[in-house]
Amino acid sequence: MEKRRILVTSALPNANGSIHLGHLMEHIQTDIWVRFQRMRGHECIYVCADDTHGTATMLRAEELGTTPEDLIKEVNAEHQSDFRDFLISHDNYGSTHSDENQALSSLIYNRLNEAGQIATKSVDQLYDPEKEMFLADRFIVGSCPKCKSENQYGDNCEVCGATYDATDLIDPVSKISGATPVLKASKHFFFALSNFNEFLGDWTRSGTLQDQVANKLSEWLDAGLQDWDISRDAPYFGFEIPGEPGKYFYVWLDAPIGYMASFQRWCSENNVNFDDFWKKDSDCEVHHFIGKDIVNFHALFWPAMLDTAGFRTPTRVQAHGFVTVDGQKMSKSRGTFINARTYLDHLDPEYLRYYFAAKMSGSVDDLDINLEDFVQRVNSDVVGKVVNIASRCAGFINKQFDGQLSATADNPLLKAFADASDGIAEHYEHGDYGKALREVMALADKANQFIDEHKPWVMIKEEGKRDEVQQVCSDGINFFKGLVTFLKPVLPGLAEKSEAFLNVPTLSWSDAGQPLVNHQINKFKPLMTRIESEKVEAIVSNAKDEAPTDEATETEQAENQWIQFDDFAKIDLRVARIAAAVHVEGADKLLQLTLDLDGETRHVFAGIKAAYHPEDLVGKLTVMVANLAPRKMKFGVSEGMVLAAGPGGEDIYLLEPHDGAKPGMKVS
Ligand code: 2FM
Ligand code: ZN
Repeated sequence: MEKRRILVTSALPNANGSIHLGHLMEHIQTDIWVRFQRMRGHECIYVCADDTHGTATMLRAEELGTTPEDLIKEVNAEHQSDFRDFLISHDNYGSTHSDENQALSSLIYNRLNEAGQIATKSVDQLYDPEKEMFLADRFIVGSCPKCKSENQYGDNCEVCGATYDATDLIDPVSKISGATPVLKASKHFFFALSNFNEFLGDWTRSGTLQDQVANKLSEWLDAGLQDWDISRDAPYFGFEIPGEPGKYFYVWLDAPIGYMASFQRWCSENNVNFDDFWKKDSDCEVHHFIGKDIVNFHALFWPAMLDTAGFRTPTRVQAHGFVTVDGQKMSKSRGTFINARTYLDHLDPEYLRYYFAAKMSGSVDDLDINLEDFVQRVNSDVVGKVVNIASRCAGFINKQFDGQLSATADNPLLKAFADASDGIAEHYEHGDYGKALREVMALADKANQFIDEHKPWVMIKEEGKRDEVQQVCSDGINFFKGLVTFLKPVLPGLAEKSEAFLNVPTLSWSDAGQPLVNHQINKFKPLMTRIESEKVEAIVSNAKDEAPTDEATETEQAENQWIQFDDFAKIDLRVARIAAAVHVEGADKLLQLTLDLDGETRHVFAGIKAAYHPEDLVGKLTVMVANLAPRKMKFGVSEGMVLAAGPGGEDIYLLEPHDGAKPGMKVS
């Protein structure tokens, strides 16, 4: 296998908050991929940094009575220790407020400018006359121009969902000083993204993105890209634009350059050539792991900037969805907005690494942490299946055979381990860790079954069975070694303890199918214990205690009450003609309706028996949810749902669209 040279990044966490489950999901996803590549013998460098610039850092420092520089230093130390304790193996964790980043940002900006891709334009923006600064949308509140709800932010209304310009707000107020903002013009610098439609059309379809992401970006590309405002006026915590006093780079310009800067720092400390990785046509790889909310920055602005400035573009931008807990958005008031340190105060980081990995498929779908399932899955898989094999076999080998493994290893199951190696590797490579772990657990099941069938604890009491006991337990130890090798990217801590127990050097990928023979192992120490549910409860309770009772929570409560527009947009409502309606035998309330959706037929059950005679319904139009997943009910499968109003019983009214609506029409 050719040795690959790979640079990997996770999105840069903001320097004005703590590391939480969302960051952890991304860093764990990245770290597993990085550790896997290293185990395969590739050169894989993983860098990250804090994203430090912007108004938020400046104001937060002011609030705390400190300087932005001191604040970001403190936060950086906290972030690094959180990540270290979650076994995230960054090679360098830097800061966007570094000399390297300033130099690279200026270099890239100058090159964009020389290429004629920087334009200036006067922009009218709300300005706080007391604080003497321009106000970003989230620092202005007022009443929604549409529904008149008070206390809404400058870009959208959380009550009615309207989006608008901050200048449209009724009675706007600066959140910073309470003053009434005034409109003021100022010169802004723009990156001419509108010139890159064609380049990005090709780039986003060149295999660098997941299909779902490329499709989303196509919508923006089809609409035509707008030039991108890359400057902010003083006062701003950031880098001044070269030759433009009082004008600063917008935080999102220097943030991705922070990836390069952090890597450059690592290169100079490790004597590696930065250009090998970043020159055009480099044969090294660059992979960015990010959340789906920031794909525009990474898959539009970033490649356009890099290409224009004479650098290579990323090999891969791998996007993931959001973390939900028990099916809902993380929430401070429910105690599910969990910070890294709150978790670490109670539980081993490897439990969470395993659970995240088991649920990752490499798609942009959201990932749900179900707290009960978390406890159950980790206990049953890692402790019950994997660690159990070692603890069952080690006692016999240590006590009866002085720690000595048998001289032969020809159990056919060992071959199955070797044979599974490529397939499992393939799943890791593609980010489908869930599939990889399912295969590993299937092997663990077989290994446990083998031990159950041979019962060394019975054989040891039988005459003349000593050799067989030694062989069965040696095979068991070798199965364990194989499992731990396959799991090492996910559970590096377990792997390290197991290496000590097995008395072997660092396990690499090819070790999975190589049994130890005539080998001395060490004394077995418990490798991992079961999660106690009380610990999870304590985490949730602590997270609740940490929740501020300020408006962040209020905003969140408002968010929880409302579904977001995206949720609504998922519902496919259609006009349907009732082709047939019949009573359902044995059901008190249900009618079965056969619905015609312009050629497509659906059978649904509706609780409207008390209100309608089936024969009166035939031929009527109604509205149905056409993309509701089929549900198996007592009387059969229901393939959708019709919409009706009213409290139920006789008082229920099927929605009937006016004449003119046709079966199959979308309802919006
Ligand atoms: O969304 C965020 O939290 C940003 N701080 C991510 C930056 S990623 C990169 F571009 F720097
Ligand atoms: Zn509104």
